[in-house]
Amino acid sequence: MRPVVVDDPKGHWQVTPNAEDYDRGRFSDVKGRVYRWLEGRAMSQAIQPLPRTDRVLDAACGTGRITAFLVKQGFAEVVASDISPAMMAVARRHLPHVPFHQADVTSLPFEDASFDTVTCIGLLMHLDENTRLKALRELARVSRRSLVIQYGCVGAFLRFATSLTGRAPGGVRHSVEEADLRRDLKRVGLQEQARFWALRPFSTSVILRLNK
Ligand SMILES: C[S@@+](CC[C@H](N)C(=O)[O-])C[C@H]1O[C@@H](n2cnc3c(N)ncnc32)[C@H](O)[C@@H]1O
Repeated sequence: MRPVVVDDPKGHWQVTPNAEDYDRGRFSDVKGRVYRWLEGRAMSQAIQPLPRTDRVLDAACGTGRITAFLVKQGFAEVVASDISPAMMAVARRHLPHVPFHQADVTSLPFEDASFDTVTCIGLLMHLDENTRLKALRELARVSRRSLVIQYGCVGAFLRFATSLTGRAPGGVRHSVEEADLRRDLKRVGLQEQARFWALRPFSTSVILRLNK
């Protein structure tokens, strides 16, 4: 199934059918399963050096896909937040022991540095530049040390493919180019430790491990 280009990320996943269908619609066909495996591999590499004693926030947790992964990886405490109660209702069903908070990522209800690590997967590529920077600042504020975030980053190959098909690269509204990504990190004062591509150059998905 081709991903829907989401123009209203705050609202899109508030609708119960979109929330209930998220995992099946996005990851159940062959392409989705392969992508999920590739993204999982990139995530495993990104979090590999993080101490399992970390208290972790999974921001924009959705149906708890990454939250469940973090729990399985053995982190001492995993907390999750999302703007959509409908998405978190799905997550709560399979993660009854995780605390979930309804929160906008640009205004999180947590103290400064209240988590060792903060993850944010599958959101930034849906946000315009202003909102993305606000979100990054907020994610950095609540993290004491590390962030693991995902961008949709377009290189020359995908730029060319897009010029032929006319489709939004990665099926998202706000993919960035390398220079934008670097500018974001500089503006927010985050240092890149490592990056892991899902499937370069065919996919825009890249997971970054950052330090404050
Ligand atoms: C594509 S889903 C990704 C969910 C999950 N992280 C994953 O990778 O499966 C994007 C999520 O971001 C949430 N979201 C959108 N805008 C948000 C905002 N401003 N603050 C917090 N969450 C937001 C949506 O409700 C949705 O659950």
